[in-house]
Amino acid sequence: MPLDPSLERLIRRLPKVELHLHIEGTLEPEMMFALAGKHGVALPYDSVEAVRRAYAFHDLQSFLDLYYAGCDVLRDRRDFYTLAMAYFARAHADNVVHAELFFDPQTHTARGIPLEVVFGGLRDAMEDAQRRYGLTSELILCFLRHLSEEDAFATLDAALPFRSEFIGVGLDSGERGNPPSKFERVFAKARDLGLRPVAHAGEEGPAAYIHEALDLLKVERIDHGVRCDEDPALVERLARDHIPLTVCPLSNLKLCVVKDLADHNFAALLRRGVAVTINSDDPAYFGGYIADNYRATAAATGLTAAELVTCAENAARASFLPTPARDGLLAQIRAEAARA
Ligand code: HPA
Ligand code: ZN
Repeated sequence: MPLDPSLERLIRRLPKVELHLHIEGTLEPEMMFALAGKHGVALPYDSVEAVRRAYAFHDLQSFLDLYYAGCDVLRDRRDFYTLAMAYFARAHADNVVHAELFFDPQTHTARGIPLEVVFGGLRDAMEDAQRRYGLTSELILCFLRHLSEEDAFATLDAALPFRSEFIGVGLDSGERGNPPSKFERVFAKARDLGLRPVAHAGEEGPAAYIHEALDLLKVERIDHGVRCDEDPALVERLARDHIPLTVCPLSNLKLCVVKDLADHNFAALLRRGVAVTINSDDPAYFGGYIADNYRATAAATGLTAAELVTCAENAARASFLPTPARDGLLAQIRAEAARA
């Protein structure tokens, strides 16, 4: 279904907040080749087109295998800066005004890249994005759930010298067989340190993992969460307690969480009163940045102008922005909605 031009204009104009974006997932094939050349890394592809052709995933793990392999070209501080700056430029073009970025420190420390390099490069880009575009951002440190609790504790400890540089902790990687309960103690420690907790749950894993993330990790947002509808009492709980879901519709399509975007439960959850938001997850791998996700979801599920505005408001409210900035952003969203 083509998108109504007035909805297209509204989507372009709406000030957006991105809450589910893995910075390593913004590595476009062109940059992968450029960095591989810079560092003399051999890639198992002979062209950018061959890389793109390889992005035909059948589940989360088939994506993660390529995503972790791609990270190997990220070696020095400038690489992390270049990666993040390219994302910020692209996000600014989509009118993103605030972004809370996930990063996977274990993917880098396991290759011998010091945390100082990762934090340093990302921080340089975050400062430049604020100066150049007025785009504010925060970092959320994700633990890889396929690794051990002990490894997560060691990662948190190693990141403590950089405590002021990240706002929260998250949980990502292969979900099946790696329940939130595995990380209950490390999340307790992170919360004691004042870190804001979020977790991927209910992407490929069952609705029970969403309950665990809420009850055991005490998360403030659920990343993905689309399998919540297997448990009507959970959907009720999410709506009643205003627990935001950071949904990534094009990711769900590419990783075969849904067969067709028209089957996606995004609109149903929104209409049920769940605070759903639209995000891009790993846009270089899934074929679309945040505005593409807004457009595709609106076209496939029949979102109205008022519903699109609600999505943007949900994201502003679900952000970790201080209250004055959040209220200012909500006012901006309403002003754009009134103009459209
Ligand atoms: N799910 C789990 N882990 C991830 C993802 C995702 O969509 N993207 C990057 N790491
Ligand atoms: Zn994700």
